[in-house]
Formats: sequence, C-alpha cells, structure tokens
Amino acid sequence: MRILITAGPTREAIDPVRYISNRSSGRMGYALAAEAQARGHHVLLVSGPVTINTPEGCRKISVESADEMFDAVAENIDEVDAAIMSAAVSDYAPVHVAVEKIKKNDQGLMLELAKTRDILAAVREKFHFQGLLVGFAAETENLRLNALKKLKQKECDLMVANDVSRRDIGFDSDYNEVTIFRADGHEEVISRQLKKVVACAILDALDDLGSK
Ligand code: CTP
Repeated sequence: MRILITAGPTREAIDPVRYISNRSSGRMGYALAAEAQARGHHVLLVSGPVTINTPEGCRKISVESADEMFDAVAENIDEVDAAIMSAAVSDYAPVHVAVEKIKKNDQGLMLELAKTRDILAAVREKFHFQGLLVGFAAETENLRLNALKKLKQKECDLMVANDVSRRDIGFDSDYNEVTIFRADGHEEVISRQLKKVVACAILDALDDLGSK
C-alpha cells in the first residue's frame, strides 16, 4: 500500500520567536513509518518539527503549522491507499501573528486563538478519501467513550487511543500503551510496549483490513 502518515506536533506562531505547541515527539508516527516501510509499503511522512531521523526509504514533507499540514495532506491524499493520522495537531492558533517580537509591558497579555481545521475529519468529509483511515485519540479521561466518538465522527476504520496523562507512556516517551478500536466493534488492548512494538500491532490491524 501507499501510506500517508502524519506525525509530530505542529507549531502555531505567536510572533517571530514564539509559538504554541505540545509535547509530541513524533516517535509514534516515525515508528509507524519505519515499520510500514520495512513491510514493503510506500510511506509518505507529513511531519511537524521533530528531532528524529527520517526512516530510510520514506518520503517526507516537513511542515510547521496545522494549516501547512492540512495543505500537505490535501495535496497528497489522492495518491495513497491508507492514511494514519498520528500527528498531535494544535487545535487552536493565534488569530494575529505579530510581525515583530512582542515586547513585554506592565500588564498581562491576552492571545486571541481561533480553531484550526481538523485534518482527519476533512479526509473523509472534504477530500472524499475512500482508502483505509487510522486516527489517534489522545485522551486524559473517558478514553473508551471519547475514542469511540472520534472513530465514528471522523469516519475512521481504526482509532488508536492512548492516555496522555500518564508520564510513562505516550507523549515524549519511548513507550506507549494503546487500545485499537475498529469500526466493526472489535477492540484490542496493546499493553505498555516500546513504540516500535505498538507500531507493529497497529500495522497488523491495518494490513488485516487491507487484505480484505
Ligand atoms: N487531528 C487532526 N487535525 C486537527 C486535530 C486533530 O487531524 N486539527 C487528528 C489527530 O491527528 C488525531 C485525531 O484527529 O488522529 C484526534 O486528535 P485528538 O487531539 O485526540 O482530538 P481532537 O479531535 O483534537 O479533539 P479533542 O482535542 O477535543 O480531544
């Protein structure tokens, strides 16, 4: 399969030197890219700013903001058979980006934020993608309920949910523990493992759907 994988955080500029972002390291997405490539799939990584090396053989488009990631996905989604949206996309971005560095003064500072476009939701709704679609659900509470809601709302085939409140897995860790929810109601718990191993389980589930 040709697989598009979004990975890493996005950065939403406040001024030339500051931005809003999150603690995503990109390790889960890059582990998925490496494993998919090793299995003989063709991988296109659409990646936010990370400090890890691109797995050998993968094509990569580097982006910074949610807007740029949206455009890169829009331009390439027609060319792939499956998409895995593991990026931690910022949900909000500053309405105004200051041209010069914002100077401090004696008062506080109010930032006006606007919602970014939901890339995963657009894949079916706007781009009318017919291929296999994998979403991620980063949750701190009601993991199962929220993941199932996202699975349905964003019309995914698989939703990979993890608890991002735990420090020993998920964001900025080599380990993850996830539940893979399938659109047909099947659920699989992958207990705490190296992200490499979790990536194998996610690709097993995807390959399984791809072979049907
Ligand atoms: N996602 C996306 N574009 C956004 C926000 C999220 O593509 N602007 C994708 C993520 O890559 C992930 C899925 O949507 O695959 C769910 O992301 P998550 O942050 O868990 O949930 P949200 O949809 O943003 O909802 P909430 O923050 O309320 O939990």
